[in-house]
Amino acid sequence: MSAHIDIGQDAGRHTVAIDLEELLATRLLVQGNSGSGKSHLLRRLLEECAGQVQQVVIDPEGDFVTLADAFDHVVIDGAAYSPREIEELAARVRQHRASVVLTLDELEVEQQIRCAALFLTALFDAPREHWYPALVVVDEAQMFAPAAAGEMSDDTRRLTLSAMTNLMCRGRKRGLAGIVATQRLAKLAKNVAAEASNFLMGRTFLDIDMQRAADLLGMDRRQAERIRDLQRGQFLGLGPAISRRPVAVNVGPVRTGGRSGGAGLLPLPDADGDAMEALLTDRLSEAASDPVVRRPVPPPRPALDLEQALRTVATLPPAAPREAEPEAVAVPSQPKSLPAPTPSTPAASIEDIVRDLAASDGATFRPATSLFRDFAIRCRQQGVASAQIDLARFRHLFACEIGGLSRLTGATRSRVEAMISGVDDDVLAPYVAMVIAEVLGDPMPDEEELARLYGSSSPSRIRRLLDHLERSGLIVIREEFGGDRIIMVPGIPDPDEKTKAA
Ligand SMILES: Nc1ncnc2c1ncn2[C@@H]1O[C@H](COP(=O)(O)OP(=O)(O)OP(=O)(O)O)[C@@H](O)[C@H]1O
Ligand SMILES: [Mg+2]
Repeated sequence: MSAHIDIGQDAGRHTVAIDLEELLATRLLVQGNSGSGKSHLLRRLLEECAGQVQQVVIDPEGDFVTLADAFDHVVIDGAAYSPREIEELAARVRQHRASVVLTLDELEVEQQIRCAALFLTALFDAPREHWYPALVVVDEAQMFAPAAAGEMSDDTRRLTLSAMTNLMCRGRKRGLAGIVATQRLAKLAKNVAAEASNFLMGRTFLDIDMQRAADLLGMDRRQAERIRDLQRGQFLGLGPAISRRPVAVNVGPVRTGGRSGGAGLLPLPDADGDAMEALLTDRLSEAASDPVVRRPVPPPRPALDLEQALRTVATLPPAAPREAEPEAVAVPSQPKSLPAPTPSTPAASIEDIVRDLAASDGATFRPATSLFRDFAIRCRQQGVASAQIDLARFRHLFACEIGGLSRLTGATRSRVEAMISGVDDDVLAPYVAMVIAEVLGDPMPDEEELARLYGSSSPSRIRRLLDHLERSGLIVIREEFGGDRIIMVPGIPDPDEKTKAA
């Protein structure tokens, strides 16, 4: 099969095309200053070969979600899934050859990087039978493969550099063809840039970037000046998939639009000074009195339902529902806008506050990060020191509370605490509830109660939860005639202890 992607025209108005098959084998690096037209170029490329090859786009700005308007791309919102789910999704993307846009614009920078790294690593680690060819486009690649140590933690840096290096250096054999775009070559890790054999260089101002671009294109200093003179939407292309000699391309139009505004001048609003002041100050104190920091509501997404798109898929191991990666979420334990703490002796304890929260309406269906924020606020308001409780500890306490651990006391409680100590927080609440029922001889929680404890209203999720607990050896399920299910919890402390339970 031979397929060509028409990206635009050269100075003589001849079509400049990229050989898709060659591109899959030899990767592409795009460089250009902000506004030079990199994202436009990537979009043109993706649009022109949509339907011919699987495409995976890592999209830090949420620019490419509009591809789903015109093509079959599935939008995966990185902020909507737990790390485990992101990995599982990546595996399914490989298995089902889905074209997807992983959008990260709702996440903090370090989380964006971790989310992309987990996703890319899972794409890379897919089993051999799923090594289908796919273009993997990473816009703003200097974020994910920075040349120098930046703000991120060492762990994140290792994770992301390894993901990007694997993609660019070892991805080809696994069918993954990396296409990376960066504003500044000097900011991109050298080994990631060096693995591309095709280049599209756009307008570049800084000497250091121009020199590196010229080196990659095999140009001398004088010729390199061409790179400085390029216009928006013009790129110099070179490489086995493009041309044997540097060719200047005017990138052609695109069908879908980006989401970024501010492309040009807009007429200013009509409101005069007084009217504008009124708009800015209208009910300001009311709005500012809400201590909860809200994220801006994202504009509606043309996202397809991933579950629907990948309906054929069998099982998803239990993972935290509807949450971003917990440990990386920046939740201020003491939000700035709150009143100062009362220095007197606190009227409540950490346990009281967790209990109140657990008893609040719909608490189990809320994301842990939002619960934790409330927890921090309540602690602050009631003068309870909570600095020692981080999100992970809070999730554990919360799961124990809603699972009913406080119904036990003394030695029984200690033994049960030991029993549950290694259990994943995602599944802890339903498991604790089952343990307590077993210890106290109560009926096992029914499906509805399990759903509440697990924070999910999906019956299939509950089935998968039970499967997972059984596979982990935490529970035993016996199917009775007629379809009834009996759940037992092995390893319960001495039955005599039951009487001591509260
Ligand atoms: N070939 C082109 N034809 C028409 N418009 C273009 C072309 N290339 C870029 N543009 C327009 O120029 C603007 C900037 O382009 P783009 O967003 O692609 O830049 P960029 O290099 O990705 O910048 P950044 O690094 O800041 O993301 C956009 O409004 C885009 O639509
Ligand atoms: Mg861009």
